[in-house]
Amino acid sequence: MTTLTLDLGERSYPIYIDNAMLGQADLLKQHISGNSALIVSNETIAPLYLEQTQAMLSGLRHESVILPDGEKFKNLEVLNQIYDGLLRNRFDRNTTVIALGGGVVGDMAGFAAASYQRGVHLIQMPTTLLSQVDSSVGGKTGVNHALGKNMIGAFYQPKAVIADTDTLDTLPDRELSAGIAEIIKYGLICDAEFFGWLEQNLQALLDRDKSALSYAIELSCQTKAEIVAADERENGNRALLNLGHTFGHAIENAMGYGNWLHGEAVGAGMCMAATMSNQMGWMSDKESQQTVKLIEQAGLPIKAPAEMTAEKFLELMSVDKKVLDGVLRLVLMKGIGQSLVTSEYEPDDLSRAIEQSIAT
Ligand SMILES: NC(=O)c1ccc[n+]([C@@H]2O[C@H](COP(=O)([O-])OP(=O)(O)OC[C@H]3O[C@@H](n4cnc5c(N)ncnc54)[C@H](O)[C@@H]3O)[C@@H](O)[C@H]2O)c1
Ligand SMILES: [Zn+2]
Repeated sequence: MTTLTLDLGERSYPIYIDNAMLGQADLLKQHISGNSALIVSNETIAPLYLEQTQAMLSGLRHESVILPDGEKFKNLEVLNQIYDGLLRNRFDRNTTVIALGGGVVGDMAGFAAASYQRGVHLIQMPTTLLSQVDSSVGGKTGVNHALGKNMIGAFYQPKAVIADTDTLDTLPDRELSAGIAEIIKYGLICDAEFFGWLEQNLQALLDRDKSALSYAIELSCQTKAEIVAADERENGNRALLNLGHTFGHAIENAMGYGNWLHGEAVGAGMCMAATMSNQMGWMSDKESQQTVKLIEQAGLPIKAPAEMTAEKFLELMSVDKKVLDGVLRLVLMKGIGQSLVTSEYEPDDLSRAIEQSIAT
């Protein structure tokens, strides 16, 4: 088993990465301090993994809340179902919320844990590649609003992250590719060597080779843990993790939540960041082409949807959380592995990159 640590002083926590962890009761129970737990999952994941997870809680009082499946249900109304479950069962402040699922379940259960009785314990058990490499680690939780993605939320760290790679066996191919988008992101942000490894080993990931997947998950979590440990609340370098996301969130919102997967929108968004960086003379033709090629080979879109216009992009990007004091900061690249957060661009640079990135 690989155990990484997200170092946040007293709030530090382990990230376990291994196969065959579902069913290991001790692993889970050592992170539960009270005598009750609420499992939050969804209607797709529950039939696959709920029973095994419940069995890990024997001896504790535990209940489950099963949400409808999909990004379009990541909202305040559906969030209420979790509070209902907690209150109906009279769970107290010492209870533990266990998120069993992908990023949608993790973000919603996390926000419920952050806000129920001003905060109860949280454990993340991510079951998608995307959630194992990204969303379960780092403590961002929340839901969408009709006017903007992830606009309601809180920073709230779990007590532990338990990423069982066996759960990836049942993941649809399209979701696997969406997870690979976030893995590629780490290479582009700060690790050219890992990007090179991905160019060599992409097919092994797509073929679900266990050792390739474990290596990519470990490296991704390690990078994310280091970035978050240094800047938990995104006052600085944590914003690098949003490479491709300001463009991507605009696509997700414009297309209707759930129609483009988050990872797909991030894939196209990272291509847009590469195009803009290249047009500004920051990234070489070769490196920008390498970036687009890897994203395409991962089975991800490399262009924004034809239905979108530059005006729509600019309107949606202006509500992004990366806007500070009215200035939209973007994550751009000086090269592979050399991303930076910047507002040093001309409005024309942005419009031109968007126009060139919309599919025809
Ligand atoms: N908090 C963060 O830091 C952070 C980071 C990145 C993304 N996110 C959020 O994460 C969400 C995307 O997460 P996601 O890609 O995991 O999507 P998701 O949670 O919607 O899961 C994708 C699909 O796979 C299904 N599924 C999950 N595990 C499965 C399994 N083992 N076998 C078969 N099917 C399974 C789900 O039911 C769903 O239909 C977005 O809402 C995004 O905003 C958050
Ligand atoms: Zn993301």
